[in-house]
Amino acid sequence: MLAFLIPILILATGLVRVHATESPTCVPLVPAVMDNATVARLLGHWVYIMGASQYPPHMAEMKELKYATFTLFPGSHEDVFNVTEIMRLNETCVVRNSSKIHVFRHNSTLVHEEGQELSMAELIHSDKDLFILKHFKDNHVGLSLSARTPNVTKEQLEEFEAQLRCHGFKLEEAFVTSNKDACPAAGEERGEGSTATAEPRLG
Ligand SMILES: *[C@@H]1O[C@H](CO)[C@@H](O)[C@H](O)[C@H]1NC(C)=O
Ligand SMILES: *[C@@H]1O[C@H](CO)[C@@H](O)[C@H](O)[C@H]1NC(C)=O
Ligand SMILES: *[C@@H]1O[C@H](CO)[C@@H](O)[C@H](O)[C@H]1NC(C)=O
Ligand SMILES: *[C@@H]1O[C@H](CO)[C@@H](O)[C@H](O)[C@H]1NC(C)=O
Ligand SMILES: *[C@@H]1O[C@H](CO)[C@@H](O)[C@H](O)[C@H]1NC(C)=O
Ligand SMILES: *[C@@H]1O[C@H](CO)[C@@H](O)[C@H](O)[C@H]1NC(C)=O
Repeated sequence: MLAFLIPILILATGLVRVHATESPTCVPLVPAVMDNATVARLLGHWVYIMGASQYPPHMAEMKELKYATFTLFPGSHEDVFNVTEIMRLNETCVVRNSSKIHVFRHNSTLVHEEGQELSMAELIHSDKDLFILKHFKDNHVGLSLSARTPNVTKEQLEEFEAQLRCHGFKLEEAFVTSNKDACPAAGEERGEGSTATAEPRLG
């Protein structure tokens, strides 16, 4: 009786194992519904957590980027945000306060305008403390994850990493910022032991 059952159990666990090693099901990313609440919740402070891009110039920029936060302020119009970015490029913290984000509600698109440079991304539906973008540049795709705090849950991280794999990225290619490279808040004095400077102050 037992001897008869054992092969069945092995077969059953074998099937489970085969199923578990299949590539994860790729849940399609859903664009955010751009109502007033969604647009309004973009306001405020965000911490860049990780991202990946197929576009070589973006890949090069990401290599230099050790840490980044950005803050969206109301701009000239309800669908325009002024943006302040604080980032550490290589060793140095820089502040950029002259860019804007334009919101195109009909296709969930955000266009980041910095001087002459425009970059486009689709806002992805997510938990409200996350800011997930699918970037488009020529025929290249990128994905980025930002959040209200440097801490995201294990589940949020795993879900994003699964999306990276679904979009053909290897996790080693993803670029991850580190909170240990955080820039001092604007106007704060630097501690010792670093060559970094944060300037200019935010007004
Ligand atoms: C969205 O906000 C605009 C401007 O603040 C307002 O005119 C409009 O009625 C709002 N729409 C909804 C559905 O609340
Ligand atoms: C947004 O930026 C423009 C300049 O690009 C500036 O004139 C305006 O005062 C800024 N708005 C806010 C709310 O900071
Ligand atoms: C960062 O370092 C790389 C390699 O050393 C260099 O090519 C690049 O110009 C640096 N970027 C900035 C913004 O300092
Ligand atoms: C979304 O719409 C804007 C304005 O109509 C357009 O410029 C942009 O290319 C569209 N975005 C995408 C991803 O198609
Ligand atoms: C992030 O998590 C760590 C450890 O759980 C905690 O000490 C820290 O306060 C959290 N930081 C923020 C900004 O939530
Ligand atoms: C950006 O920062 C510079 C230097 O601190 C300041 O003069 C300028 O008014 C700021 N611009 C905006 C739009 O905040």
